[in-house]
Amino acid sequence: MKSTQYSEKVLNHFRNPRNVGTLEGENVAVGRVGNPVCGDLMEIYIKVENDRISDIKFKTFGCGSAIATASMVTELARGKSLDRALKITREDVAKELDGLPPVKMHCSNLAADALHEAVKDYLNKKEGSAKGGDQGEAIRESQGGK
Ligand code: FES
Repeated sequence: MKSTQYSEKVLNHFRNPRNVGTLEGENVAVGRVGNPVCGDLMEIYIKVENDRISDIKFKTFGCGSAIATASMVTELARGKSLDRALKITREDVAKELDGLPPVKMHCSNLAADALHEAVKDYLNKKEGSAKGGDQGEAIRESQGGK
């Protein structure tokens, strides 16, 4: 692929991006990342039900390749388990898009990283609420002293 040549799939996702927007409410988490190479930003929102991504949206301040990769990531991650979503790599995304010009590969970091951050955000929140709800821990600790 030439450095300035985009596949039909990249152009299609750039022109008609899927799942643009944000999500709010219960069981929603967000991943936000910035690209150190160009300074662009990406946000991915996920809604989780039964440990699966039931809904997903993205918002980006990024280039056409960032839009296309985010659009593809949301398609790849929708309906997947959290474990599976964590395994989606930028190479998977680029492959699904039939490749990206080499100089634009860094753009695909944003979407995959933001997805992973969103999953981690969800897991952290879940862990936090599980700990917050465990009154037994504090009681056990207070009874443990001599
Ligand atoms: Fe910044 Fe593509 S140039 S994400």
